[in-house]
This record gives sequence, structure tokens and C-alpha cells, in this order.
Amino acid sequence: MTEKHLIRIADWGVTEQTVVFADDFVLERLPAGGDVLDIGCGRGIFDAKAAQRVRSITGIDITLSEVEAARSLCRNTNIRFVVHDAEKLFELEGTYDAMFSRFCFHHLNMEKTAAGIHARLKSGGRLVAVDCLEDYWKLSGSFYILFDATRRLGIGRMIALIPRLMFFFTPKRFQHVKSDIARIKREKRYHFEDFKNFYLRLFPGAHIGMIGCAAYIDWRKP
Ligand SMILES: C[S@@+](CC[C@H](N)C(=O)[O-])C[C@H]1O[C@@H](n2cnc3c(N)ncnc32)[C@H](O)[C@@H]1O
Repeated sequence: MTEKHLIRIADWGVTEQTVVFADDFVLERLPAGGDVLDIGCGRGIFDAKAAQRVRSITGIDITLSEVEAARSLCRNTNIRFVVHDAEKLFELEGTYDAMFSRFCFHHLNMEKTAAGIHARLKSGGRLVAVDCLEDYWKLSGSFYILFDATRRLGIGRMIALIPRLMFFFTPKRFQHVKSDIARIKREKRYHFEDFKNFYLRLFPGAHIGMIGCAAYIDWRKP
């Protein structure tokens, strides 16, 4: 595990194993040769891998700095990154053979996002998403991640990382996380069973299960 990895993992609050399983889970389900949309692409760290399997990827994200980072980090010619709100997918042009999303749905109003997914996914197209479950939001989860990271990196490198990790403990960030938790609790998608019922309502017939401390949604549009 590199320091770059650790920053990402601390940011997401999921363990390295969960991220690795989630990557494989999504990759295996992408249609070879299809045109694919990445919802909430961030810095596109997964898109470079996925691009080798599919015909084209459009990565959308609402944060300009993430999209700019993705453009400079990810040079594959069959990927484009666009600043776009995932809750307004119906404003995008064209339709897609598949859509995927990694650890972004908890930021979104999923009623709005799902309407756009239904509109822009081709018949027979596949949605594959992974997102956080209750463990993600728990303090005990954070301690486990810290313990896991210290075991892998060693105490010396962990101490050296403290100034960079402080970025994650700003009041603004806590406020952001607090409002995410409040919304997903209100919408009843905090615990796995609630998460499952919530997404089955939006994507009837979807396969929904757990990967590590995250959950997946695998749905084929009829
Ligand atoms: C935890 S990051 C995951 C990034 C990326 N999927 C990855 O696997 O590296 C969540 C991303 O969702 C994006 N996001 C949040 N709200 C969004 C919205 N309404 N529309 C599009 N992207 C959004 C954030 O900017 C952030 O980049």
C-alpha cells in the first residue's frame, strides 16, 4: 500500500481490500466493447483500468478540480472527463451500454439520479455500482483503517503522514459527512437491508449484496 493509496482509503473510510474487491467486481461486469458512463468519476483512478476493456468511457463529476486531475492523470484516448451533475443525467446526450459508479451514490439524491439512469441506459444495458454501508460511517471502522494502515506502513511513516491526513478532519468536512449521514438515514439506506430495499425500489430485480464493508448494485435494464 502506497501513501497515495492510504490518503484515498482514509478519504473513503473503506479498507484497501474492499476497494480491490470492488474494482474487480465492477471490471468483470463491464461489457467488452461497450460505451460506458462513470458516475462520479473523481480523479479517474479506476477509468484507466476499465478503458482497456470497453470501447469508450465518459467520466462525469461535479467537482472541477477532480475532473482536471482525471484529465491529467488518465491519458487513454477512449476516455473523456466532463464536469456534470449526476442528478441531471437526462441532460447528457446519447445513451450508454453500461454505467458504473464507485463510492459516489451516498452523495446523491438517488431518486433524481435513477430517473436519469433509466433514461440514458440502453435496453439490456447494465448498471454496476458500489457504495458505502453503515460501517463506513462508524468510528470503529476508522480505527480499524488506521490500525490496518499502521500495520502496513509502519509507525514512522504514519506519523510523517499526520499533517497530510489533517485535511480530512476540517470542520467543513465533518459538516459535509454529517449531512450525508443525515440524508442517507432519512432515506433509509444506511443499513444493508434498508439499502437493499431502497435500491430495489429504484431498480426492480437488481442483484444487491455486500463486498467487504461496502454494498453493490448490479442491474440490467429490461
Ligand atoms: C469518494 S469519491 C469517488 C471517486 C471515484 N468514483 C473513484 O472511484 O475514484 C466521490 C465523488 O463523487 C463526486 N460527486 C459528488 N456529488 C456529485 C454529483 N452531484 N454529481 C457528480 N459527481 C458528484 C465527488 O466530486 C467525488 O469525486
